[in-house]
Amino acid sequence: MGNSTMTKALAAGALSLGLTAGAWADDLATGKMLVDTCAGCHGTNGNSVGPASPSISAMDPVVFVDSMIAFQEGDTYSTIMGRIAKGYTEEEFELMADYLHNQAFEPAQQEFDQAMVDEGAKLHDKYCEKCHIEGGKPVPDEEDYYILAGQWTPYLKYAMDDFREDRRMLPKKMSRKLDSMLEAKGEESLDALYAFYAAYTDFTSEGAGDDDED
Ligand code: HEC
Ligand code: HEC
Repeated sequence: MGNSTMTKALAAGALSLGLTAGAWADDLATGKMLVDTCAGCHGTNGNSVGPASPSISAMDPVVFVDSMIAFQEGDTYSTIMGRIAKGYTEEEFELMADYLHNQAFEPAQQEFDQAMVDEGAKLHDKYCEKCHIEGGKPVPDEEDYYILAGQWTPYLKYAMDDFREDRRMLPKKMSRKLDSMLEAKGEESLDALYAFYAAYTDFTSEGAGDDDED
């Protein structure tokens, strides 16, 4: 899509929300300026060159704002984001969130164990797909999603460690699924999941996750 087609399509969207195109364009420009200051770690337009800083492009805007506030208030563990988030207001987080939500997600280019991808897909379907839909890919038309597929593996490992070592609050139902997976399949199951997320392959759910209620 050409840039002007894109601008028109976006402006039409803004108008249908009852915003004036001018104000909306200003907000998007401000969002971009703010997000540019994150590029050193999170890459251009939020596509990180890795490995420890996650990609933040195409993030769910509500999830984004909530995580920035949690970093700012020290409600969630971080090595660095706590300090960074203190420099911004909630209004600025919202501008950044809108801008990032509109950026195309570029899956991280990284090595992974090809032999484990199929096993990872099955595990994801059974234990994770219920909440992390479409194989954990970004789903910008949906709400309340967390990106796992195409995310940097080292970052995913840190995030899982933070959950498992109680530095970050683990949602109860996710905790239950994770525990039953680890019990049934052991620690290697996590490596299979990481391979699956890194491969960013086509994925169709077989719906196995739904009959796994306990
Ligand atoms: C010096 C490197 C650095 C800079 C600069 C930086 N970040 Fe981060 N960011 C990180 C790291 C590392 C993490 C993982 C959490 C942690 O350990 O702090 C992270 C995590 C995040 C997350 C959580 C993502 C997720 O999937 O849960 C968001 C959102 C985020 N950063 C947004 C931003 C924004 C917005 C800016 C610019 C205003 C920014 N970061 C600047 C390094 C950085
Ligand atoms: C019942 C719903 C549910 C299930 C099942 C679930 N998750 Fe989650 N997951 C969540 C929620 C909610 C969050 C956000 C937690 C927070 O607020 O920090 C999350 C966050 C995550 C994150 C952190 C993402 C980031 O960028 O910070 C990872 C990694 C993750 N989940 C992996 C998994 C894996 C792997 C499985 C399967 C073994 C799984 N989840 C199953 C609900 C779920």
